[in-house]
Amino acid sequence: MKFTYFGQSCFLLEWGQYKILFDPFISPNPLAKHIHINDIQADYILVSHGHEDHIADLLTLARQTQAVVISNFEICTWLGKQGYDHIHPMNFGNRTFDFGKLHFVPAQHSSGLPDGSYGGNPGGFVLATEEGNIYYSGDTCLSMEMLLIPRYADIDTAILPIGGNFTMDASEAVIANEMIKADKIIGVHFDTFGYIEIDHQATKKIFEDAQIEFILPEIGRQVSI
Ligand code: NI
Ligand code: MN
Repeated sequence: MKFTYFGQSCFLLEWGQYKILFDPFISPNPLAKHIHINDIQADYILVSHGHEDHIADLLTLARQTQAVVISNFEICTWLGKQGYDHIHPMNFGNRTFDFGKLHFVPAQHSSGLPDGSYGGNPGGFVLATEEGNIYYSGDTCLSMEMLLIPRYADIDTAILPIGGNFTMDASEAVIANEMIKADKIIGVHFDTFGYIEIDHQATKKIFEDAQIEFILPEIGRQVSI
C-alpha cells in the first residue's frame, strides 16, 4: 500500500485498483503550495469531520474525481445540498465496500461545518483491506474508544494527529498505541498553524524512545506502508 501526504490530515492511500483520499485540505495550506490538486485522482474520499482544515477542497476534489464521499450522515447531507450526490452516509458502525471493510469510529472532538451548519459527530476510520489494516483516528484526544480497535482489527499502520492543542500530541500518540497496538505510526495534523507547530527531532525521539516505528511524512512525498 502507498501513502502520499498532502499536508495537515490530507493523504491518499493507494493499492491495487483503489485510490482513497482522506480529509481534503490542500489549497489553503501554504505548506502544500507545491501540490497540484488538479492531478489528484480518487475513487473514494473519506471525511472524518466538518472542520475547514479537513474539508476545504472537498467539493472541488469530489467534483473533479467524481469519487464517492464517505462521511457521517450530516456531512453527506450537506454535500447533497451543494448538488453533489455521490455520497455514502454512515454513522458509527461498519460496512463492507469493494475495497474492504470500513468501520466509522468515534473521535473525541467537534465537527461544525465552516458555514455554521451542524456537522454531526467527528470520527475516524478503520480500513481492513487485502493489503493491510489501517486506522486513521481523525482529530481526537486520547480516548478509551481506541481499546476496542484490536478486538476486531489487527492494525498495521495507525495515522494519528501529533500536533497537540486541538488533538493528541506525540507523547499521547505513544499512549494511544498501547491501546491500538499498531506496528507503525504515521503522524499528521502538525505544523499547519502556529498552535500545532512541532519540533521534528524531539517528536521523532519520542517514538524512538518508545520503540515505535514512526513516519513523519513530507508533503508531496509517497511512502510504502
Ligand atoms: Ni478538527
Ligand atoms: Mn483539524
